[in-house]
Amino acid sequence: MSQSDITSVLVEHRRFPPSAAFSKQAHIKSMAQYKKMYAESIKKPEVFFGRVAKELHWFKPWKKVLEWKEPFAKWFVGAKTNLSYNCLDRHANSARRNKIALIWEGEPVDEAHISHTRNISYDSLLRQTCQFANVLKSLGVKKGDRVMIYMPMIPEAAFAMLACARIGAVHSVIFGGFSAEAVKDRIQDCGASAVITADGGYRRGSVIELKKNVDAAVAQCPTIKNVIVVKRTGQPVHMESGRDHWWHELQQNASYECKAEPMDSEDPLFILYTSGSTGKPKGILHTTGGYMVGSYLTTKYVFDLKEDDTYWCTADIGWVTGHTYTLYGALLNGATSLIYEGAPNHPGPDRLWQIIDKFGVTIFYTAPTAIRAFIKWGEQHVLKHSLKSLRLLGTVGEPINPEAWMWYHTVIGKKRCPIVDTWWQTETGAAMLTPLPGVTPTKPGTATLPFFGVDIAVVNKEGKEVPPNVGGLLVIRKPWPSMLRGIYGDPERYKKQYWSEIKGFYFTGDGARRDKDGYFWVMGRIDDVVNVAGHRLGTMEVESALVGHIKVAEAAVVARPDDLRGQALVAFVTLKTGQTPGDALKDELRAHVGKEIGSLAKPDAADIRFTDSLPKTRSGKIMRRLLREIASGGEVKGDTTTLEDFSILAKLRTDED
Ligand code: WTA
Repeated sequence: MSQSDITSVLVEHRRFPPSAAFSKQAHIKSMAQYKKMYAESIKKPEVFFGRVAKELHWFKPWKKVLEWKEPFAKWFVGAKTNLSYNCLDRHANSARRNKIALIWEGEPVDEAHISHTRNISYDSLLRQTCQFANVLKSLGVKKGDRVMIYMPMIPEAAFAMLACARIGAVHSVIFGGFSAEAVKDRIQDCGASAVITADGGYRRGSVIELKKNVDAAVAQCPTIKNVIVVKRTGQPVHMESGRDHWWHELQQNASYECKAEPMDSEDPLFILYTSGSTGKPKGILHTTGGYMVGSYLTTKYVFDLKEDDTYWCTADIGWVTGHTYTLYGALLNGATSLIYEGAPNHPGPDRLWQIIDKFGVTIFYTAPTAIRAFIKWGEQHVLKHSLKSLRLLGTVGEPINPEAWMWYHTVIGKKRCPIVDTWWQTETGAAMLTPLPGVTPTKPGTATLPFFGVDIAVVNKEGKEVPPNVGGLLVIRKPWPSMLRGIYGDPERYKKQYWSEIKGFYFTGDGARRDKDGYFWVMGRIDDVVNVAGHRLGTMEVESALVGHIKVAEAAVVARPDDLRGQALVAFVTLKTGQTPGDALKDELRAHVGKEIGSLAKPDAADIRFTDSLPKTRSGKIMRRLLREIASGGEVKGDTTTLEDFSILAKLRTDED
């Protein structure tokens, strides 16, 4: 075994082939058909993707499908297109004109349990996008400018993203649960000139003060010239004269027509921040043509999308899944996509099931962390609803434990719906490992086989493929259309982060094994980025927040396994001399992390452990690996030769309870 091998303990023998009826109606119907298409996509990617791309609209054709100078790829070189044109005009100028593009369901319900719903047709979505694109133009936003979007899940968030794409402004969406501090860091990193936000957002019955956070962030961001505010909750907010504008006031004078800017295939489309192991968030950069083709094609085949589907991807648009599968992929396919504003358990734990029945949702795509929460709340909430309309289920975000998969299959899918477990990353732009629902026999816990054009493998440190069922590093060996084009403003970090670990390959940062059938079992992150409730967090960011507290000297944050959230954060905290540990301080630290990063980064009180010192290497690096083992209640194994002070380990263990 080489050093990078990982021991695998998960054994799973259950297999679930798709029903003959599902396969018969599916876009791709047989394993033979998948294999043939896959072989062509790998051997002749230019032929395969050149043909697929022609299903979309290009103002000017490409000269070359792919230009690859490792690690920089260009797809559809020389072509001109526009993503918003392909999502909107293409359908609005067809028989789909009055088809519903977006169904929106608001979170609040009144005493009669009536909620606010909006159905937006392709034609109307086009008009409202154009109108807002004109608003942006009137404020001087131009092609190439960066625009931050920090909004609740309301249709205006979709208009905003599509309007940016229409005029060539580069959007960067920040999840509404992030703090002012996080907003500030991201604006400063990309030098944005405008922020689009709302007064507030509804979440589980309370209001998140988005505008207030923007005010605090923008005070430290001189590049911001304009802040556009949607009135959603109606609570009083400060409006800075000359800088802040109400969306509804600006739009009154804006026309409903706006020509889509012909964008170069390689023009930037969006930046999306994701945690990096060094603490500073990485601005993952995606460009236009390749991302468009990748999100179009995966949505079509992975979800087997048909004209009459009602498709619901529950991801917030602040995450890449919301970009690719709630919005762009669905609209590129002319589908009807559902957006729900709020929490899954508001006003009751059956809200999602009620929504599925209300709208006749046929395809439902969510995250393992959500599935674990449903399990915790109890299946009685599900059984109140029929869920008869469902025909396909999906999951994404972290490895799904087989028992959660079985629950999803039985209680939600009634053993009738195939489950597509899709593995991918912010960096990959679109699904990479996934079953095809009419083709692939699934097994609980595996994302199965590669999608078209994805040359993926499990290798050791030397880049050699490891034998079946041996864990190793998950790498991608060839460029794919929706791959990231870099880290915004930092090409060196891009090379170092993804292309230096294993020569010639893109390193995903994940560990995996491949079974005898060639199925990939992803085992999670190799480095110390942790995945809490489906969200990737850099432990360094949490540590920095803790150390920012006046009483804290040093902190190390690691993950321990957690039944509900996948992983939970454990913080080892060293206090400044003279400070006394205690429950009150734990609460203070939790509140502090919440303010600096957002509540999802808050460790539970029981997971904050005060310690006199931390295990470090001689050069002063904290040995998180050892802390992880302690936090998980396991024995400290592996190499401890670089450890500076052995007595610390014993102390940390006895301090545990
Ligand atoms: C993990 C989300 C196992 C993985 C689209 C990956 C998964 C990281 C799966 C990316 C899955 C995502 N099975 N692990 N089906 N999907 N992951 O950037 O560790 O938020 O590298 O993108 O989540 O997270 P990100």
